[in-house]
Amino acid sequence: MTAFDLSLLPASTTVGADGRVAIAGVDLESIAGEFGTPLYVYDEADMRARCRAYRAAFGAGVAYASKAFLCVAMARLVEEEGLDLDVATGGELFVALAAGFPPDRIVFHGNNKSTTELRAALEVGVGRIAIDSDDEIGRLESLVRDDGVPAPSVHIRVTPGVEAHTHEFIETGTEDSKFGFGLDSGEALAAVRRVVDGGLLHFAGVHCHIGSQVFRLDSFERAVQKMVGLVRTIEVDVGVSVEELNLGGGLGVRYLPEDAPPTIEQYATAVHESVGKALADAGVRSRPRLLTEPGRSIVAPAGITLYTIGTIKPIGGIRTYVAVDGGMSDNLRPVTYGARYETFLPARATDDRSALVTIAGKHCEQGDIIVRDAALPGDFRVGEILATPVTGAYCHSMASNYNKVTKPAVVFVREGSARLVVRRETEADLVRLDTDS
Ligand SMILES: Cc1ncc(COP(=O)(O)O)c(C=O)c1O
Repeated sequence: MTAFDLSLLPASTTVGADGRVAIAGVDLESIAGEFGTPLYVYDEADMRARCRAYRAAFGAGVAYASKAFLCVAMARLVEEEGLDLDVATGGELFVALAAGFPPDRIVFHGNNKSTTELRAALEVGVGRIAIDSDDEIGRLESLVRDDGVPAPSVHIRVTPGVEAHTHEFIETGTEDSKFGFGLDSGEALAAVRRVVDGGLLHFAGVHCHIGSQVFRLDSFERAVQKMVGLVRTIEVDVGVSVEELNLGGGLGVRYLPEDAPPTIEQYATAVHESVGKALADAGVRSRPRLLTEPGRSIVAPAGITLYTIGTIKPIGGIRTYVAVDGGMSDNLRPVTYGARYETFLPARATDDRSALVTIAGKHCEQGDIIVRDAALPGDFRVGEILATPVTGAYCHSMASNYNKVTKPAVVFVREGSARLVVRRETEADLVRLDTDS
């Protein structure tokens, strides 16, 4: 079987002659010993480099999609790198504000923002509200008109009717979506008209997000064509110009050696070129500022999860289950989307891998599998540290306490040192909210 492909790890990875892996100069097995497992480890420089690549490609129009991974340290990193922040709930907004993130650089999303969430967002002065529904227009207008809260700048979220060719649960741009206003049905145009005619909200532009883990640039290009068509219709029919065109996030990342997503630069070139061409072809007068909201492509490749191998269960002629001390509570993606991962032993990542096993979690679910058909060195042992790469996005943020398993700690590594940014939950945390003593 093939050796583990080290190129799935962040660029700062070094491998000793004995196969020991260090990231940003920090030995993985040692930090597993220091902070315990399961443990999320993030290469800080890797995330910063991706933020910078986006800024170089898109200028000021980049908002990090915090749903991919958010904690106070992450919000501060994003702020330091000069990106804006996309939040999708009042909870994400709360964390961003707790980190001191400037409210005017926050974009607030969500298909069911409550009046309480909207009021909080308006009162702190968030930069943009991406309006998702007619109900929301009503709620915002009444907050401004009846309660005197400051009027927000808004985007209308549009479902452009474009297939992203990704998993159906993370495909959001088709007409049959719980998000946004349909484009082909005329609902998006009607929403813009309602906002403009209402005169209470400041119409800033239109937004779409076709889906996540998208590899095909032509999917983004088709979305651009449809959105630019809408920009033109807004100009002509509603009589206002469109200041901002937000294309959402969605750029895919490499989870497996065979994955070949476009780079940030290729993605940026493709959307810039297609926006320029579509605007010229459609004879649009507005020159909307191009905005983007990457999440996964900033954090996924920077993160890895460390586990400890526990029970090994060989079933003759069928498979060997190798159980680790985490599972679907720290990585929901395999169960939810059938997501696939690689795996390696950080103390000997270059060893030949002759065993084909299934890495299972510790939860009471047969479906709690992290990697089906994983290759490991034939002499792997109980107690060894096992890692899954590319777990920086949608793992910590989707973590749960299922089976009352405590959530792992998060560590940022940088220039030879490791910094605990989210402490491990304790068993005391599991009853912290219970009111019966
Ligand atoms: C509105 C919006 N913007 C941005 C993103 C980030 O997408 P990704 O993490 O794939 O870049 C999402 C993800 O669901 C989203 O819904």
